[in-house]
Amino acid sequence: MAGAKEAMGGPDGGFFGLRNVRAMQRDLFGFYCETARKHGDACRYRVGPFVVVQLTHPEHVHQVLVEKSKAFRKPERLRRVLGQWNGNGLAVNEGESWVRQRRLTNPAFKPQRLERYVAIVNRRVAELLEGWRHETRLDVSKAIYRLTLGVVAEALFGSDVERHTERFAREVATLNLDGLKEMSSPILLPLWSPTPRKTRIRRATRYLQSVADEMIAAHRQESVDRGDLLSALLHVPDDDGGGAQMTDRQARDEAINLMLGGAETTGTALLWTLHLWSTHPAEQAAARDEVRRVLRGAPPTWADLAELGTVERAFKEALRLYPPAYLIPREAAQDVEIGGHAIPEGAQVTLVVYVTQRDARWFAEPDAFRPDRFLDEASWPRGAYVPFGLGPRACIGKTFATMEAVAALAQIVERFELRATGPVQSEAQVSLHPKGGLVLDVAPAP
Ligand code: HEM
Repeated sequence: MAGAKEAMGGPDGGFFGLRNVRAMQRDLFGFYCETARKHGDACRYRVGPFVVVQLTHPEHVHQVLVEKSKAFRKPERLRRVLGQWNGNGLAVNEGESWVRQRRLTNPAFKPQRLERYVAIVNRRVAELLEGWRHETRLDVSKAIYRLTLGVVAEALFGSDVERHTERFAREVATLNLDGLKEMSSPILLPLWSPTPRKTRIRRATRYLQSVADEMIAAHRQESVDRGDLLSALLHVPDDDGGGAQMTDRQARDEAINLMLGGAETTGTALLWTLHLWSTHPAEQAAARDEVRRVLRGAPPTWADLAELGTVERAFKEALRLYPPAYLIPREAAQDVEIGGHAIPEGAQVTLVVYVTQRDARWFAEPDAFRPDRFLDEASWPRGAYVPFGLGPRACIGKTFATMEAVAALAQIVERFELRATGPVQSEAQVSLHPKGGLVLDVAPAP
């Protein structure tokens, strides 16, 4: 390929890359970190049938996601697995159809709409914390995942969705778990296959689709903007959508995509912030002082959130240390050069966000929880901090997630003192989450 000069090294995976497969199964981050340490910022190795190019340099990350984003697409395997329930939703869509759908979905995430959802977060957090009043030690993970799923479901569909939330939680958990297994299994069976896993996926998908269909039909009948995200998807004003409208089928795919993309990621980010506060009492106390000064005992409004910088920086630092989307996968759609390295069409490109965000070249004391480093974000290079991705495919829900997290964290830290109960390990599943849950000691805040 013209212009490509530097060869990439990488771990020798032996026959069919099986040694690498086993090393990744044993310790995924150990494998990525060790590979970057031994072979540098750009490495190439085999994993089963795939040639993988691992990139961790911020400049490479920026080139793949921004400057040369057109030379990459979402990997085929990812699209086929997620497509089973996301249909053609944003996260897996490509080309002209993605451009159109993104344009039609963007208005749903305008601040004027998001502002209304703070009340949903406040109500649900108040309910959650009511339960904590009678506890001294508890596993907070289940409650936090319920919270984030409940918030996104209600923001999407309105309060009618309440009766579905129990089952939603079960089916979403099924899809996360089975989806993860499918991502790493050597063959992908068609959805109609009569295996137990496919039966579970079909059941969960049908359920989510039927609820979305029911909500869409109700909205169409009323034909008014009820203020929820679904209304925004269905009634895009002409100036935003270029005159186009979504079909019911497209709205269904986007709704399911938003729910699945928005719940677990935000949930794990909240859990890691709580964990980091529980192990850093001074940071926790500083956040509490700020919340009390700004809110004076009232629940936050949209305007208040901008005043809660200490809380937001803790959340951002948690996203740096434990990025829920710990890697961003792409497939080269054509031969392309990144940082002088030739990447052939079809190569699987893995941007290992976890490694980049813990690199001492960009972040002093990279493993330390230091929220105040975000007072000087300009000090690190572009592409070094990418928990929400970058470029045209960056997360559409970034402001939503930040609003939800800051509002929820502020109210938790205001009312409760959190103490760690023991070491917590991370586990890379669909997102990077605390292994075995997060057990905390909780006491009324001093
Ligand atoms: C802390 C929480 C979150 C994190 C860390 C996160 C992370 C990400 C990342 C890294 C991407 C880019 C993936 C890529 O380039 O391949 C992404 C895309 C996306 N996210 Fe999020 N996300 C979060 C919350 C949300 C929420 C709350 C929603 C919706 C309510 C959402 C919906 C989406 C969608 C639809 C996409 C695909 C966008 C496109 O390709 O056009 N996410 N997210």
